[in-house]
Amino acid sequence: MYEAKAAYFDANVDAPWAAAEYSPEEMTKLERLFDHTGPLQGLKVLEPGCGTGRLTKILSDRVGSSGFVVALDISPQMVKAAKRRVGARSNVQIHLSPVESFPIKNEEYDLILCHQVFPHFENKEKALKILSSGLKTKGKFIVTHFINFREINDLHRKSGTAVEKDLMPEENEMKFLFYKAGLKVETLFDDSLGYLLIANKRGQTHFQK
Ligand SMILES: C[S@@+](CC[C@H](N)C(=O)[O-])C[C@H]1O[C@@H](n2cnc3c(N)ncnc32)[C@H](O)[C@@H]1O
Repeated sequence: MYEAKAAYFDANVDAPWAAAEYSPEEMTKLERLFDHTGPLQGLKVLEPGCGTGRLTKILSDRVGSSGFVVALDISPQMVKAAKRRVGARSNVQIHLSPVESFPIKNEEYDLILCHQVFPHFENKEKALKILSSGLKTKGKFIVTHFINFREINDLHRKSGTAVEKDLMPEENEMKFLFYKAGLKVETLFDDSLGYLLIANKRGQTHFQK
């Protein structure tokens, strides 16, 4: 089911969008993300679709030695590259697995961060339910992209590749999907700094800092 997509990402492992160090402009966009996560020191973070591990490295630095980052990806080449980048770190684990079948313990993670991957999930409803169960009661669930909603969907639709049908659901549909998974979308930015959706478990009004 994931073969064509995994092969597409395998073939792009050295593409600048997958492998290049973050530009100053991208770092600015990440700053907004980290303004909203708050300090990550000591937290357990899940990063589905880690690619070559560029964000994994930053997350590993931010959670520090008392925290932990679990990263996963469907592409063997991406996983290999991520292991090269951060595999030796004692606070990082990298797995070859689709998020939809990744074993997650109940309420295991403080933060679940889907960076530039959500549209690629084959079964978004299933992925959200699994991820939601793994989120701690006061945890945060974040979906983020360096580009905005329109740009994400244009890019995929026009790509003529295995990801051409991988679209970001529009706002109301996204909120409903999250609701069905027991999550509440608290914040959604869709602007020149990209797309940033922050959700928490339904019934929780305060995020854990
Ligand atoms: C556009 S890349 C983004 C990679 C990385 N997050 C970044 O921003 O550099 C999307 C990544 O998600 C992975 N991916 C796609 N569907 C996935 C799924 N269902 N579960 C886990 N990873 C997935 C792909 O293999 C690819 O490496």
